[in-house]
Amino acid sequence: MDFQLPKIIGHRGAALTAPENTIAGLQEAIDQKATWVEFDVKLTQDNIPILMHDDTLERTTNGQGFVSNTTLVDVLKLDAGSWFNIKWSREKIPTFEETLQFLITKNIFPNIEIKPNQDEDYQTTLEIIKILNIMWPRNRPLLLSSFSFQSLEVAKETSPYFPRGYLIDRYQNDWMQKAMDLSCYSIHCNYKYLTKNWADSIKKLGYKLVVYTINVPDDAERAYQLGVDTIITDCPGIFLKN
Ligand code: G3P
Ligand code: MG
Repeated sequence: MDFQLPKIIGHRGAALTAPENTIAGLQEAIDQKATWVEFDVKLTQDNIPILMHDDTLERTTNGQGFVSNTTLVDVLKLDAGSWFNIKWSREKIPTFEETLQFLITKNIFPNIEIKPNQDEDYQTTLEIIKILNIMWPRNRPLLLSSFSFQSLEVAKETSPYFPRGYLIDRYQNDWMQKAMDLSCYSIHCNYKYLTKNWADSIKKLGYKLVVYTINVPDDAERAYQLGVDTIITDCPGIFLKN
């Protein structure tokens, strides 16, 4: 797949101004001129990939309990917008499939963060890949990413043609070995913990360097100076003004 990452990716859509991981949030990122969006994907109880960050429903919906204990039928009944602002009370949790269809229609590219529920690292990737193989044109850009080594490992084994980004929070001594084992395209670091030395070694090894989450122009400038290729932000519009 021949593609170039953009300098800016919308985080969970545009999480500062619209409910995260919803179609309204993705549309908000597009309205702010983002061409790529990051979102989190995990499985319902009946193994359907949906957009959701947390393992539980409380924070971002009017539901309760674990996503892994909730079937798709019940997930689709939830209000995923009111917690953010009452004007989004009709917003639902989108399925991964519906999201891909939306992105294809809008000609927008995804950074799909595989966010497995506990002990679902393999299954989550397999279900995501199954849908991508059916729906996503092979030459259309996308980037998979995950904190889960196992999730990316199964992605590499089953669909090596989808580029992989390894997500790291705090510095890990074995990051280089893991990135190599996964044949990663990119390393995604928490900007808070990114040092110059670390950035230099990532770049020296030829990986694209992606950071999350920057919402302030001064931080973005410093990040680009460190050699960062791509910033994931809750407010893409701040960085994509014209
Ligand atoms: O993919 C970047 C970022 O989204 C990773 O952290 O917790 O916001 O999914 P989180
Ligand atoms: Mg994420």
